[in-house]
Amino acid sequence: MSNPSLLILPGDGIGPEVMAEVRKIIDWFADRRGLVFDVSEDLVGGCSYDKHGTPLTDEVMAKAQSVDAVLLGAVGGPAYDDLDFSVKPERGLLRLRKEMDLFANLRPAQCFDALADFSSLKRDIVAGLDIMIVRELTSGSYFGEPRGIFEENGERVGINTQRYTESEIDRVARAAFDLARKRDKRVCSMEKANVMESGILWREVVQAVHDADYPDIELTHMYADNGGMQLVRNPKQFDVIVTDNLFGDLLSDVAAMLTGSLGMLPSASLGAPMENGRPKALYEPVHGSAPDIAGQGKANPIACVLSFAMALRYSFDKGDEAARLEGAVEQVLADGVRSADLMQAEGGKPASTSEMGDAIIAALENNL
Ligand code: IPM
Ligand code: MG
Repeated sequence: MSNPSLLILPGDGIGPEVMAEVRKIIDWFADRRGLVFDVSEDLVGGCSYDKHGTPLTDEVMAKAQSVDAVLLGAVGGPAYDDLDFSVKPERGLLRLRKEMDLFANLRPAQCFDALADFSSLKRDIVAGLDIMIVRELTSGSYFGEPRGIFEENGERVGINTQRYTESEIDRVARAAFDLARKRDKRVCSMEKANVMESGILWREVVQAVHDADYPDIELTHMYADNGGMQLVRNPKQFDVIVTDNLFGDLLSDVAAMLTGSLGMLPSASLGAPMENGRPKALYEPVHGSAPDIAGQGKANPIACVLSFAMALRYSFDKGDEAARLEGAVEQVLADGVRSADLMQAEGGKPASTSEMGDAIIAALENNL
Protein backbone atom coordinates (compact mmCIF):
# COMPACT_ATOMS: atom_id res chain seq x y z
CA MET A 1 0.00 0.00 0.00
CA SER A 2 1.26 3.48 -0.79
CA ASN A 3 1.74 6.10 1.88
CA PRO A 4 -1.05 8.60 2.54
CA SER A 5 -0.46 11.83 0.66
CA LEU A 6 -0.27 15.38 1.98
CA LEU A 7 -0.21 18.55 -0.09
CA ILE A 8 1.40 21.42 1.78
CA LEU A 9 0.51 24.96 0.74
CA PRO A 10 2.46 27.34 3.02
CA GLY A 11 1.08 30.45 1.29
CA ASP A 12 1.99 33.98 2.34
CA GLY A 13 3.16 35.99 5.34
CA ILE A 14 3.95 33.81 8.34
CA GLY A 15 2.55 30.74 6.50
CA PRO A 16 5.96 29.47 5.34
CA GLU A 17 7.56 30.00 8.76
CA VAL A 18 4.95 28.12 10.75
CA MET A 19 4.73 25.40 8.11
CA ALA A 20 8.49 24.82 8.33
CA GLU A 21 7.94 23.77 11.96
CA VAL A 22 5.12 21.45 10.95
CA ARG A 23 7.43 19.82 8.40
CA LYS A 24 9.90 19.07 11.21
CA ILE A 25 7.07 17.42 13.11
CA ILE A 26 5.93 15.45 10.08
CA ASP A 27 9.51 14.19 9.76
CA TRP A 28 9.55 13.27 13.44
CA PHE A 29 6.42 11.15 13.05
CA ALA A 30 8.01 9.41 10.05
CA ASP A 31 11.28 8.68 11.89
CA ARG A 32 9.93 7.89 15.32
CA ARG A 33 6.40 6.62 14.79
CA GLY A 34 6.67 5.02 11.36
CA LEU A 35 3.96 7.34 10.07
CA VAL A 36 5.20 8.18 6.61
CA PHE A 37 3.40 10.61 4.32
CA ASP A 38 4.09 11.39 0.69
CA VAL A 39 4.50 15.13 1.04
CA SER A 40 4.42 17.59 -1.84
CA GLU A 41 4.48 21.36 -1.62
CA ASP A 42 3.03 24.08 -3.83
CA LEU A 43 1.84 27.66 -4.05
CA VAL A 44 -1.39 29.34 -3.03
CA GLY A 45 -2.34 32.99 -2.49
CA GLY A 46 -0.14 35.96 -3.21
CA CYS A 47 2.98 33.90 -3.88
CA SER A 48 1.06 32.01 -6.58
CA TYR A 49 -0.19 35.28 -8.02
CA ASP A 50 3.39 36.60 -8.16
CA LYS A 51 4.57 33.58 -10.10
CA HIS A 52 1.52 32.61 -12.18
CA GLY A 53 -0.81 35.62 -12.15
CA THR A 54 -3.46 33.66 -10.26
CA PRO A 55 -3.85 32.83 -6.55
CA LEU A 56 -4.44 29.16 -7.39
CA THR A 57 -3.48 27.40 -10.62
CA ASP A 58 -5.61 24.63 -12.10
CA GLU A 59 -2.69 22.26 -11.53
CA VAL A 60 -2.59 22.94 -7.80
CA MET A 61 -6.39 22.72 -7.64
CA ALA A 62 -6.22 19.29 -9.29
CA LYS A 63 -3.47 18.20 -6.91
CA ALA A 64 -5.56 19.28 -3.93
CA GLN A 65 -8.43 17.15 -5.25
CA SER A 66 -6.21 14.10 -5.59
CA VAL A 67 -4.35 14.00 -2.26
CA ASP A 68 -5.58 12.56 1.02
CA ALA A 69 -5.30 15.90 2.83
CA VAL A 70 -4.20 19.49 2.25
CA LEU A 71 -2.33 21.50 4.88
CA LEU A 72 -2.44 25.26 4.33
CA GLY A 73 -0.53 28.05 6.09
CA ALA A 74 -2.07 31.44 5.36
CA VAL A 75 -2.87 33.69 2.40
CA GLY A 76 -2.86 37.42 1.80
CA GLY A 77 -0.91 40.54 2.61
CA PRO A 78 -0.87 44.30 2.04
CA ALA A 79 1.09 43.92 -1.21
CA TYR A 80 -2.07 42.47 -2.75
CA ASP A 81 -4.60 44.95 -1.37
CA ASP A 82 -5.08 46.75 -4.67
CA LEU A 83 -5.41 43.67 -6.84
CA ASP A 84 -8.64 43.01 -8.66
CA PHE A 85 -11.05 41.06 -6.44
CA SER A 86 -10.94 38.05 -8.78
CA VAL A 87 -7.21 37.45 -8.23
CA LYS A 88 -6.86 38.41 -4.59
CA PRO A 89 -4.96 35.81 -2.51
CA GLU A 90 -8.13 34.96 -0.55
CA ARG A 91 -9.81 33.82 -3.77
CA GLY A 92 -7.33 30.93 -3.89
CA LEU A 93 -8.45 29.70 -0.49
CA LEU A 94 -12.13 30.19 -1.30
CA ARG A 95 -11.72 28.24 -4.54
CA LEU A 96 -10.16 25.32 -2.64
CA ARG A 97 -13.01 25.32 -0.14
CA LYS A 98 -15.68 25.56 -2.83
CA GLU A 99 -14.33 23.09 -5.39
CA MET A 100 -13.38 20.51 -2.78
CA ASP A 101 -16.86 21.10 -1.32
CA LEU A 102 -15.48 21.42 2.21
CA PHE A 103 -18.78 22.24 3.82
CA ALA A 104 -17.95 21.57 7.47
CA ASN A 105 -15.35 23.82 9.05
CA LEU A 106 -14.37 22.62 12.50
CA ARG A 107 -12.89 25.32 14.73
CA PRO A 108 -12.14 24.07 18.21
CA ALA A 109 -11.51 26.67 20.90
CA GLN A 110 -9.72 25.11 23.81
CA CYS A 111 -8.09 27.02 26.59
CA PHE A 112 -4.88 25.39 27.72
CA ASP A 113 -4.54 25.71 31.46
CA ALA A 114 -1.11 27.33 31.18
CA LEU A 115 -2.64 30.11 29.09
CA ALA A 116 -5.80 30.86 31.05
CA ASP A 117 -4.34 34.17 32.21
CA PHE A 118 -3.65 35.31 28.64
CA SER A 119 -7.27 35.65 27.67
CA SER A 120 -8.81 39.10 27.82
CA LEU A 121 -11.47 37.46 30.00
CA LYS A 122 -11.04 36.43 33.63
CA ARG A 123 -9.35 33.08 34.28
CA ASP A 124 -12.41 31.35 35.77
CA ILE A 125 -14.52 32.23 32.71
CA VAL A 126 -12.10 30.54 30.28
CA ALA A 127 -10.07 27.94 32.25
CA GLY A 128 -10.89 24.48 30.96
CA LEU A 129 -12.86 25.83 28.01
CA ASP A 130 -13.40 23.25 25.26
CA ILE A 131 -15.90 24.20 22.58
CA MET A 132 -16.19 23.35 18.91
CA ILE A 133 -17.57 25.74 16.34
CA VAL A 134 -18.84 24.07 13.19
CA ARG A 135 -19.02 26.71 10.49
CA GLU A 136 -20.74 26.08 7.15
CA LEU A 137 -18.03 26.86 4.61
CA THR A 138 -19.23 26.53 1.03
CA SER A 139 -22.39 28.60 0.82
CA GLY A 140 -24.22 31.52 2.39
CA SER A 141 -23.23 35.10 1.74
CA TYR A 142 -19.67 34.13 0.75
CA PHE A 143 -20.91 32.50 -2.44
CA GLY A 144 -24.57 33.45 -2.97
CA GLU A 145 -25.72 35.00 -6.25
CA PRO A 146 -26.42 37.69 -7.26
CA ARG A 147 -23.30 39.40 -6.06
CA GLY A 148 -21.31 42.36 -7.29
CA ILE A 149 -21.20 46.12 -7.47
CA PHE A 150 -23.83 47.49 -9.85
CA GLU A 151 -25.17 50.84 -11.09
CA GLU A 152 -28.67 51.67 -9.97
CA ASN A 153 -30.44 55.03 -10.21
CA GLY A 154 -27.19 56.85 -10.82
CA GLU A 155 -25.28 55.38 -7.89
CA ARG A 156 -23.47 52.16 -7.16
CA VAL A 157 -24.96 49.39 -5.10
CA GLY A 158 -22.99 46.52 -3.53
CA ILE A 159 -24.82 43.22 -3.38
CA ASN A 160 -24.20 39.89 -1.69
CA THR A 161 -26.78 37.21 -1.19
CA GLN A 162 -27.38 35.05 1.82
CA ARG A 163 -28.66 31.79 0.39
CA TYR A 164 -28.99 28.30 1.86
CA THR A 165 -30.63 25.20 0.49
CA GLU A 166 -32.15 22.57 2.77
CA SER A 167 -29.52 20.02 1.82
CA GLU A 168 -26.70 22.43 2.62
CA ILE A 169 -28.13 23.01 6.09
CA ASP A 170 -28.90 19.33 6.55
CA ARG A 171 -25.36 18.11 5.90
CA VAL A 172 -23.60 20.61 8.14
CA ALA A 173 -26.14 19.96 10.91
CA ARG A 174 -25.31 16.25 10.70
CA ALA A 175 -21.60 17.02 10.93
CA ALA A 176 -22.26 18.99 14.11
CA PHE A 177 -24.50 16.32 15.67
CA ASP A 178 -21.98 13.57 14.83
CA LEU A 179 -19.22 15.55 16.55
CA ALA A 180 -21.42 16.25 19.57
CA ARG A 181 -21.97 12.50 19.98
CA LYS A 182 -18.25 12.10 20.63
CA ARG A 183 -18.25 15.06 23.04
CA ASP A 184 -20.79 16.38 25.55
CA LYS A 185 -23.81 15.68 23.30
CA ARG A 186 -24.98 19.29 23.12
CA VAL A 187 -25.43 21.45 20.01
CA CYS A 188 -26.39 25.12 19.90
CA SER A 189 -27.43 26.34 16.45
CA MET A 190 -27.02 30.05 15.70
CA GLU A 191 -28.77 32.16 13.05
CA LYS A 192 -30.90 35.29 12.79
CA ALA A 193 -34.33 33.73 12.37
CA ASN A 194 -35.79 36.92 13.83
CA VAL A 195 -34.84 38.93 10.74
CA MET A 196 -33.76 36.53 7.96
CA GLU A 197 -35.76 33.93 6.04
CA SER A 198 -32.55 31.95 5.54
CA GLY A 199 -32.34 31.86 9.33
CA ILE A 200 -35.91 30.56 9.63
CA LEU A 201 -35.11 27.75 7.20
CA TRP A 202 -31.82 27.07 8.99
CA ARG A 203 -33.59 26.65 12.32
CA GLU A 204 -36.33 24.43 10.86
CA VAL A 205 -33.93 22.09 9.06
CA VAL A 206 -31.51 21.75 12.00
CA GLN A 207 -34.46 20.93 14.25
CA ALA A 208 -35.86 18.38 11.76
CA VAL A 209 -32.50 16.62 11.38
CA HIS A 210 -32.26 16.49 15.14
CA ASP A 211 -35.75 15.12 15.66
CA ALA A 212 -35.34 12.47 12.97
CA ASP A 213 -31.87 11.15 13.70
CA TYR A 214 -30.27 12.70 16.77
CA PRO A 215 -32.77 12.63 19.63
CA ASP A 216 -29.92 11.73 22.00
CA ILE A 217 -28.32 15.16 21.43
CA GLU A 218 -29.54 18.24 23.30
CA LEU A 219 -30.32 20.93 20.69
CA THR A 220 -30.82 24.61 21.46
CA HIS A 221 -31.20 27.60 19.12
CA MET A 222 -29.83 31.07 19.62
CA TYR A 223 -29.79 34.28 17.63
CA ALA A 224 -26.25 34.81 16.45
CA ASP A 225 -25.87 38.25 18.02
CA ASN A 226 -26.86 36.83 21.39
CA GLY A 227 -24.47 33.96 20.62
CA GLY A 228 -21.59 36.42 20.34
CA MET A 229 -22.58 37.98 23.64
CA GLN A 230 -22.91 34.60 25.36
CA LEU A 231 -19.50 33.56 24.04
CA VAL A 232 -17.85 36.33 26.03
CA ARG A 233 -20.27 36.20 28.97
CA ASN A 234 -20.15 32.48 29.71
CA PRO A 235 -18.41 30.48 26.95
CA LYS A 236 -18.36 27.24 28.93
CA GLN A 237 -22.14 26.90 28.51
CA PHE A 238 -21.44 25.63 24.96
CA ASP A 239 -20.28 22.28 23.62
CA VAL A 240 -20.77 22.34 19.83
CA ILE A 241 -21.98 25.46 18.01
CA VAL A 242 -23.25 25.12 14.45
CA THR A 243 -23.71 28.20 12.32
CA ASP A 244 -23.52 29.60 8.80
CA ASN A 245 -20.51 30.81 6.86
CA LEU A 246 -20.51 34.51 7.77
CA PHE A 247 -21.69 34.20 11.38
CA GLY A 248 -19.18 31.37 11.79
CA ASP A 249 -16.37 33.59 10.51
CA LEU A 250 -17.21 36.22 13.14
CA LEU A 251 -18.03 33.92 16.04
CA SER A 252 -14.91 31.82 15.56
CA ASP A 253 -12.70 34.91 15.83
CA VAL A 254 -14.51 35.82 19.04
CA ALA A 255 -14.01 32.30 20.36
CA ALA A 256 -10.35 32.45 19.39
CA MET A 257 -9.61 35.28 21.77
CA LEU A 258 -11.10 33.30 24.64
CA THR A 259 -8.12 30.98 24.38
CA GLY A 260 -5.54 33.71 24.83
CA SER A 261 -4.13 34.02 21.33
CA LEU A 262 -5.21 33.59 17.75
CA GLY A 263 -1.86 31.83 17.38
CA MET A 264 -3.27 28.76 19.11
CA LEU A 265 -6.27 27.83 17.01
CA PRO A 266 -6.32 25.08 14.37
CA SER A 267 -9.11 24.22 11.98
CA ALA A 268 -10.27 21.38 9.79
CA SER A 269 -12.44 21.83 6.71
CA LEU A 270 -14.11 18.59 5.77
CA GLY A 271 -16.20 17.45 2.83
CA ALA A 272 -17.82 14.22 1.71
CA PRO A 273 -15.91 10.92 1.92
CA MET A 274 -13.66 10.09 -1.03
CA GLU A 275 -13.40 6.63 -2.59
CA ASN A 276 -10.88 5.55 0.04
CA GLY A 277 -13.33 6.49 2.79
CA ARG A 278 -11.34 9.52 3.93
CA PRO A 279 -13.15 12.85 3.86
CA LYS A 280 -12.01 15.54 1.47
CA ALA A 281 -10.01 17.68 3.84
CA LEU A 282 -8.04 20.87 4.27
CA TYR A 283 -6.38 21.86 7.53
CA GLU A 284 -5.29 25.40 8.34
CA PRO A 285 -4.57 27.62 11.31
CA VAL A 286 -7.31 30.16 12.00
CA HIS A 287 -4.82 33.03 12.19
CA GLY A 288 -4.09 34.85 8.97
CA SER A 289 -0.83 35.74 7.27
CA ALA A 290 0.13 38.34 9.95
CA PRO A 291 2.21 40.46 7.55
CA ASP A 292 3.35 42.75 10.38
CA ILE A 293 5.49 40.00 11.88
CA ALA A 294 6.20 37.88 8.78
CA GLY A 295 9.79 36.83 8.17
CA GLN A 296 10.98 37.71 11.67
CA GLY A 297 10.77 34.33 13.40
CA LYS A 298 8.18 35.71 15.81
CA ALA A 299 5.15 33.72 14.73
CA ASN A 300 3.63 31.07 16.98
CA PRO A 301 3.55 27.78 15.04
CA ILE A 302 1.15 26.05 17.45
CA ALA A 303 -2.06 26.70 15.48
CA CYS A 304 -0.47 25.14 12.41
CA VAL A 305 0.97 22.25 14.44
CA LEU A 306 -2.45 21.59 15.99
CA SER A 307 -3.96 21.70 12.48
CA PHE A 308 -1.67 18.81 11.58
CA ALA A 309 -2.89 17.04 14.74
CA MET A 310 -6.44 17.48 13.45
CA ALA A 311 -5.33 15.93 10.14
CA LEU A 312 -3.99 12.91 12.03
CA ARG A 313 -7.35 12.57 13.79
CA TYR A 314 -9.89 13.35 11.07
CA SER A 315 -8.15 12.22 7.88
CA PHE A 316 -5.89 9.41 9.01
CA ASP A 317 -7.79 7.95 11.94
CA LYS A 318 -4.76 8.39 14.22
CA GLY A 319 -6.48 9.89 17.22
CA ASP A 320 -3.79 8.46 19.50
CA GLU A 321 -0.98 10.15 17.56
CA ALA A 322 -2.99 13.39 17.44
CA ALA A 323 -3.32 13.22 21.23
CA ARG A 324 0.43 12.59 21.47
CA LEU A 325 1.11 15.80 19.52
CA GLU A 326 -1.49 17.82 21.44
CA GLY A 327 0.03 16.53 24.66
CA ALA A 328 3.47 17.72 23.55
CA VAL A 329 2.06 21.20 22.85
CA GLU A 330 0.42 21.26 26.26
CA GLN A 331 3.71 20.19 27.86
CA VAL A 332 5.64 22.96 26.13
CA LEU A 333 3.14 25.56 27.34
CA ALA A 334 3.17 24.13 30.86
CA ASP A 335 6.98 24.37 30.78
CA GLY A 336 6.62 28.09 30.14
CA VAL A 337 7.95 28.17 26.58
CA ARG A 338 6.33 31.26 25.05
CA SER A 339 6.32 32.78 21.61
CA ALA A 340 5.91 36.56 21.48
CA ASP A 341 2.09 36.43 21.24
CA LEU A 342 2.03 34.51 24.54
CA MET A 343 4.22 36.89 26.55
CA GLN A 344 2.79 38.96 29.36
CA ALA A 345 3.99 42.56 29.41
CA GLU A 346 6.73 41.88 31.97
CA GLY A 347 7.99 38.61 30.31
CA GLY A 348 11.61 37.83 29.28
CA LYS A 349 12.83 36.92 25.81
CA PRO A 350 10.21 35.19 23.68
CA ALA A 351 10.88 31.87 21.97
CA SER A 352 11.28 32.12 18.20
CA THR A 353 9.13 30.19 15.76
CA SER A 354 11.76 27.50 15.34
CA GLU A 355 12.48 27.33 19.08
CA MET A 356 8.78 26.64 19.61
CA GLY A 357 8.94 23.84 17.03
CA ASP A 358 12.09 22.40 18.59
CA ALA A 359 10.51 22.46 22.04
CA ILE A 360 7.49 20.54 20.73
CA ILE A 361 9.78 17.93 19.21
CA ALA A 362 11.75 17.66 22.45
CA ALA A 363 8.48 17.09 24.32
CA LEU A 364 7.50 14.40 21.81
CA GLU A 365 10.88 12.71 22.33
CA ASN A 366 10.54 12.86 26.11
CA ASN A 367 7.22 11.09 26.01
CA LEU A 368 8.01 8.29 23.61
C1 IPM B 1 -11.14 32.62 7.86
C2 IPM B 1 -10.67 33.83 7.11
C3 IPM B 1 -11.15 33.73 5.67
C4 IPM B 1 -12.66 33.79 5.67
C5 IPM B 1 -10.56 34.75 4.70
C6 IPM B 1 -9.04 34.73 4.71
C7 IPM B 1 -11.07 34.55 3.30
O1 IPM B 1 -11.11 34.98 7.75
O2 IPM B 1 -10.82 31.49 7.43
O3 IPM B 1 -11.82 32.79 8.87
O4 IPM B 1 -13.26 34.88 5.70
O5 IPM B 1 -13.28 32.73 5.65
MG1 MG C 1 -12.08 34.64 9.62
